[in-house]
Amino acid sequence: MSGNESLENLLKEERRFTPPAELAAAANVTAAAYDLAQQDRLAFWATQARRLSWAKEPTETLDWSNPPFAKWFADGELNVAYNCVDRHVEAGNGDRVAIHFEGEPGDSRAITYAELKDEVSKAAHALTELGVAKGDRVAIYLPMIPEAAVAMLACARIGAAHSVVFGGFSAEAVASRVQDADAKLIITADGGYRRGKPTALKPAIDEAVLSCPTVQHVLVVRRTGQDTAWTEGRDVWWDEITARQSTEHTPQPHNAEHPLFILYTSGTTGKPKGILHTTGGYLTQAAYTHHAVFDLKPETDVYWCTADIGWVTGHSYIVYGPLANGATQVMYEGTPDTPHQGRFWEIIQKYGVTILYTAPTAIRTFMKWGDDIPARFDLSSLRILGSVGEPINPEAWIWYREHIGAGKTPIVDTWWQTETGAIMISPLPGVTATKPGSAQTPLPGISATVVDDEAREVPDGGGGYLVLTEPWPSMLRTIWGDDQRYIDTYWSRFEGRYFAGDGAKKDDDGDLWLLGRVDDVMLVSGHNISTTEVESALVSHPKVAEAAVVGAADATTGQAIAAFVILRGNADDGDDLVGELRNHVAKVLGPIAKPKLVQVVGELPKTRSGKIMRRLLRDIAEGRAVGDTTTLADSTVMDLIQSQRSAAD
Ligand code: WT7
Repeated sequence: MSGNESLENLLKEERRFTPPAELAAAANVTAAAYDLAQQDRLAFWATQARRLSWAKEPTETLDWSNPPFAKWFADGELNVAYNCVDRHVEAGNGDRVAIHFEGEPGDSRAITYAELKDEVSKAAHALTELGVAKGDRVAIYLPMIPEAAVAMLACARIGAAHSVVFGGFSAEAVASRVQDADAKLIITADGGYRRGKPTALKPAIDEAVLSCPTVQHVLVVRRTGQDTAWTEGRDVWWDEITARQSTEHTPQPHNAEHPLFILYTSGTTGKPKGILHTTGGYLTQAAYTHHAVFDLKPETDVYWCTADIGWVTGHSYIVYGPLANGATQVMYEGTPDTPHQGRFWEIIQKYGVTILYTAPTAIRTFMKWGDDIPARFDLSSLRILGSVGEPINPEAWIWYREHIGAGKTPIVDTWWQTETGAIMISPLPGVTATKPGSAQTPLPGISATVVDDEAREVPDGGGGYLVLTEPWPSMLRTIWGDDQRYIDTYWSRFEGRYFAGDGAKKDDDGDLWLLGRVDDVMLVSGHNISTTEVESALVSHPKVAEAAVVGAADATTGQAIAAFVILRGNADDGDDLVGELRNHVAKVLGPIAKPKLVQVVGELPKTRSGKIMRRLLRDIAEGRAVGDTTTLADSTVMDLIQSQRSAAD
């Protein structure tokens, strides 16, 4: 993508929001951190590593002698579970609540750090009894219940790498991931609660195990109490095996580069990539970024990240970062509309949540449901709002701040990836004057820029590809079992630089604007237009809640812009809504960006992590049979869109 040809719309965003004075005055991290890291990046990270408790302090910071294979803190030793649990108890904070669990049916449970230590210790003994040892792999397929965090920490404690597979994935998806990692054990549950009813999980595991000869046992958490098929000798109830274990367990130190977890990213083509993260560098950056970006005060804050533990956000910002920092957090099992569309706001009111971290897809859904729903709840405890997962449209950003943040809470738009392990680009809530829609600045100690096709850094005002120019502590170490694919995917497009796969622009202040995956850039009559920009223009129309845009092959213009929009709860179609929306985009972005097709739909095809599957919409726009829909959150969505399309024709 050559950014100079692309549209300038987002760069015209001129609203700025400075941090509240009180927050700035007491912020964990100030502007000085940027200078410090600038002077000596490695010394900065060596200092951050000291927030952890090391069994053996590292003397080396980075070994980059064999790029792109990094070693961070290579001669250090530590135990991640000790850092996330035991040390808080030893420091006298055992009575602090670690997890306020809220089940979907309304059951709740508060778990203190002392209780968490007992649970993790018993689970670690249980894993050992089941034959799991340091260096083995364990697959985890659980709902959003505290045992998910306990299971991950128990693996970390004994040095077995976990591979969490999202509980909504099919038996086939589980099997391919278990096979790739040669997992010895699978931890699952009888079921979980989803949209008001128990949903079985174990049948998928029973099916998956048929093609996974390395699996010796299936450890089953009792959550719903539903009837569960049982294979004697192989299957073990979690409550039965943990009940007989000691609550005392001595954590062994592991080398800083010992594997902590594998997490599979689907990618658009080919088999899933097993992203490998290791121990010391990962925990250092997860803990530091959680402290810096969310300004966490462990004694007073109540933090809530609404992600699922099956995604990297759940790994770094539910389990490892917050627990390493001794946070009190909320964990919620279910969906935001069960039993009513105010469930999130009710939870914030109930627990006095001060920091909320959620995704643009959720924010746009709340916009669609209407402003009156959050208005019914007391959200005054909130002081920081976070966003992650995709670019946040300026309108959604403003709505989030106005209707959830009472028009005063800073919003941190955090850019990162499964591969980066932790947040890389984000405002700091006590420092940055924020701009709606921009992730803005690499964090202290992180180096990122934007380059053109020829790998030349673009000047301020230019656009191209986002690259990371220096290794960082929580970077992926490789793709599990495939070093060559690691090199090819991330380190070959631009010599010596990590290619993130995202388009980006720099504005005149040098702030970064993420424009979505580079495969989602359209070429219309010789102009590069990002799907994100057209989507943001559509969402800025008062009748539109959500939009997805694709480039469809077009004989005249190369690609033509096709837009699929969801209307806001109170909007009617109007006489010529389509014409109105097309003209609106033309007015905001210029005539070149006027969509050729606008279709009003009820839902958009999304993956279970909320990413729009544009490839399926392209199939529709180009009149093809719709491709593989197996990773969709709701597979009926495409039929619906297709029938609406034929009705419109
Ligand atoms: C891709 C990574 C990071 C945890 C959740 C997703 C997109 C993520 C932002 C943001 C613009 C974003 C990028 C990135 N993305 N955060 N704040 N602004 N885009 O992890 O599934 O590995 O996806 O999500 O395209 O490359 P993931």
